[in-house]
Amino acid sequence: MKQIVIQPVTRIEGHAKVTIQLDDQGNVADTRVNVVELRGFERFCIGRPVEELPRIVCRICGVCPWAHHLASSKACDAVFGVEIPSVAKKLRELAYMGHFMHSHILHFFILSGPDFVMGPDADYSIRNVVGIIQKVPDIAKRVVRTRFLAQMMTQLLGGKAIHPDVSVPGGWSKPATKKEVDQLKEMAKECLDFSTFAIDFAKKEIFPKYLDLVKSFAPIETGFLGTVKDGVLNLYDGDLRMMTPDGKYEDFAVKDYLDYIGEHIEPWTYLKFPYYKKAGQFSMDLGNPVGIYRTNTLARINVCDHIATPLANKELEEFRANFGRPAQLTLLYHWARLIETVYCAERAMELLDDPEITDPNTRKAVTPRAARGVGSVEAPRGTLIHDYETDEKGLVKAVNIIVGTTHNNAAINMSVKKAAQDNIKGGKYDQALLNTVEMAIRAYDPCLSCATHELDGRIPVKIDVFDSEGQLVGTVMEDEQV
Ligand code: MG
Ligand code: NI
Repeated sequence: MKQIVIQPVTRIEGHAKVTIQLDDQGNVADTRVNVVELRGFERFCIGRPVEELPRIVCRICGVCPWAHHLASSKACDAVFGVEIPSVAKKLRELAYMGHFMHSHILHFFILSGPDFVMGPDADYSIRNVVGIIQKVPDIAKRVVRTRFLAQMMTQLLGGKAIHPDVSVPGGWSKPATKKEVDQLKEMAKECLDFSTFAIDFAKKEIFPKYLDLVKSFAPIETGFLGTVKDGVLNLYDGDLRMMTPDGKYEDFAVKDYLDYIGEHIEPWTYLKFPYYKKAGQFSMDLGNPVGIYRTNTLARINVCDHIATPLANKELEEFRANFGRPAQLTLLYHWARLIETVYCAERAMELLDDPEITDPNTRKAVTPRAARGVGSVEAPRGTLIHDYETDEKGLVKAVNIIVGTTHNNAAINMSVKKAAQDNIKGGKYDQALLNTVEMAIRAYDPCLSCATHELDGRIPVKIDVFDSEGQLVGTVMEDEQV
C-alpha cells in the first residue's frame, strides 16, 4: 500500500470523508460518510429581525440560494400570518423554475455527466467538464447557453440571480413588466427545447449503455419524501408526502413535520439523520433499515401521482412503465432529474402565459408578532424545511433548518456501504472503487455543506481504509492511483 500525493483539487477542502473498516478477511465490516459541516446559520440568525432571514439564509449556499430564499420567505409569511397575493406565489414559482433548470442542468451534464459520457472507468484526467467539452462540443455549448438563460430568468425577475433579495415576507418586491414577460417567454422556450433534447439524448445515447449498471448498482430499499399539491408534483408549494418502501404513503402539512420526522444523531458526523418516526427505531442497517427515506428527484418522481404538464408527464409514464413505483435504483436519480427539467421549462411557460403574472400588487404589509412559522420548498436537492420562532417584536428566538441533503444522509451512507461491500473483497480495492463510491454519493446531488464547494464536476472524496485492528492502512483521493 503506498501513500500517494494529493493534487491541488484538494485545496478546496474535503467535504465528505468516507472511512471503510475491513474485517480479518479484508472484506467490508463498516463504512461511514463523515461530513464536517459548519454552517451555524441556525444559531447566528437568533436575535435578528425575522424579515432579514430570507436575505441572510440564501448565503448558506451559492448553489441553492433560491431554495433557501423561498423556504425562508414562506416561513416568514407563516410567522407573520399573511396570505400573500396569488401573483406573488406565481412570481416566486416562476423564478424558481429558472433556478431549478440551472441547477439540474449543472448536475446532469457537468457534475455527473462525465461518469456517463466518458464512462465510470475513464481516467480522471478526462472524466470532467473539460472532457465533456472535448467529446461533445455542440452539446456542451448548449449546456452553457441554457444554464445562462435559466440563470438570467431569475435575474430578470429578481434583480439578481445569486443571493436574491426579491422575495419578502408578504410577497414579492418587484412586479414583472409586460416587456420582461415577453423576454422571459423566449428564454423559457429555448430552455424547453434544450430540456426535451436532453432527455431524448440521454434515452438514446446514455441510459441504454448503462442499464445493466443502473440495475446492479449498490441496490438499497428506502421510503421517499417529496412535496405534492393535491397529489401532483409541485416544487414550490403543497403538502409533504411520505412514502414507505412498499409504495404506501401519507400526506401531511409541513407545519406538522416534527410529528413525522425525527432527527437521529451519530457521534461521528455533524450531519443529522432524519427518519420517518412512525416506522420505529431508526436503523440504517443494510439488512433491515428502519425509517429511512430519500428526497430529491427520484423521491419526487416516485411520490407524485402524476405531473401537471404534458411532456414531463409523458416522460413520467414511460419511466414508471420501465421501473415501477416507487423506483428504488439509485442511479435513476439522474433520469428523474431530466424529467423534472422538462417539467420546470413547461411550468415556466405556463406561468408566463398567465395574464395575472404582470399584476403589480405583489406584496402585502406585515406586522411583527410572537409566532412560529414553518415554510418549505422542494430544493433541487430535496425537501427543504425552514422553521422559525419569533418574540413579540418579531425577533428570531429559534431556527431549525433541514436541507435536502440531510434527509438523504442515511441513504447516502447505505449506498456507500453497499457500493464498498460489492467492490472490496479480500482486502483488494482500486481506483474503480473510488469511482463507484463517488457515483453512489453523486447520484444524490448532495450539497454537503450547502455552500459553493463543488469544483470541476467532482465532490472531493477522501477514503480511509482501516484494518481489523483499527489501523489506517491506506488513503485514496480522487487524483490518486492505487
Ligand atoms: Mg436543523
Ligand atoms: Ni446548497
